[in-house]
Amino acid sequence: MKNTQTAHTGRHFLQIPGPTNVPDRVLQAIAMPTIDHRGPEFATLGKEVVSGMKRVFQTEGTVVIYPSSGTGAWEAALVNTMSPGDKVAMFETGQFATLWRQMAGRLGLEIEFVPGDWRRGVEPARVSEVLAADPEHRIKAVCVVHNETSTGVTTNIPAVRAAIDAARHPALLMVDTISSLASIDYRHDEWRVDVTVGGSQKGLMLPPGLGFNAVSEKALEVAKSAKMTRSYWDWAAMSETAQTGYFPYTPGTNLLFGLREALKMLLDEEGLPAVFARHSRHGEATRRAVRAWGLELLCENDAEFSNSLTAVLVPDGFDADRLRETILDAYDMSLGTGLGKVKGKVFRIGHLGHFNDLMLCGTLCGVEMGLHRAGVPHKPGGVAAALEYLSAV
Ligand SMILES: Cc1ncc(COP(=O)(O)O)c(C=O)c1O
Repeated sequence: MKNTQTAHTGRHFLQIPGPTNVPDRVLQAIAMPTIDHRGPEFATLGKEVVSGMKRVFQTEGTVVIYPSSGTGAWEAALVNTMSPGDKVAMFETGQFATLWRQMAGRLGLEIEFVPGDWRRGVEPARVSEVLAADPEHRIKAVCVVHNETSTGVTTNIPAVRAAIDAARHPALLMVDTISSLASIDYRHDEWRVDVTVGGSQKGLMLPPGLGFNAVSEKALEVAKSAKMTRSYWDWAAMSETAQTGYFPYTPGTNLLFGLREALKMLLDEEGLPAVFARHSRHGEATRRAVRAWGLELLCENDAEFSNSLTAVLVPDGFDADRLRETILDAYDMSLGTGLGKVKGKVFRIGHLGHFNDLMLCGTLCGVEMGLHRAGVPHKPGGVAAALEYLSAV
């Protein structure tokens, strides 16, 4: 079979769980001439995107936009609120929780890392236990990944919040929403999250390159006395943007043009409730296809299924990356690789961002044909199961 990476005919299917497909009109917005980031036109843009992002985070509070990847926004959350030697509680939900933990370690924080098997979200009971064992309040933050992109498992954030409240513990709650923001319902204010971390390249339908923090009043207060060295990431320098529209350094001007367009699509045209419902429908259709193929979902708990991606286990003795290669070569579709502990064992189907029923159908067809071509044991009928569901609801 010819390698289609060098011979594209028709459109490539980018079905990794981010970066996601960027709508043409967002690409066109990004292609506009760069403007003076100290001029009046930029001030309007800056204010508009900050206020749009507040609606996405469902917050009235502070939103900071960095010209960075999501990893930068992770770092910003920690360095603005912590002091050297502070302790944080983190939970091993998958590869991204593990990477955030590694970062915290490199920054010199002490970490209580609660082990997990990568098939479940954070258990609120474990949060309660960890906090109950900390009567001196040495733990300064509870850090949770809302949607583990490596596993397709979500964590119930209100339940984590309730566990912190029940323990009467003052730790900040920090949540990574990099692969859930603008795809799965998320409420920064209502759930009383202190720092929410986001990125541009997933539900927001933009290329990579913007990182976000939504910040509570409590976290802003903590930041005033936090002693960790910070400069580029300092919220104090960035917090004026909502008022003035200007950034303390050169912003990602053209990505912000794209963000303005994407926000128009998400907030004003489709509306967030419809965005969440669309993702939920596509998540369910995908899971029905996987079950009909007789394959196993990595996520073990029905209440924690991710609606932005699905991680699928291949049968023992088969290599998920070989399957992905077959699908790329034969059908020009990129699926997400298994990361860290589940490398070779799972492939991930991204169904988030700029996506519709027929794109999902094409994606599932590519998987079904690929399973057949790669000789991975499965039952036929996954696509049919998804079609039946999509046609009915
Ligand atoms: C949940 C989650 N957190 C953090 C990151 C890291 O973000 P970035 O790769 O943009 O630095 C990712 C990237 O995919 C992610 O999915």
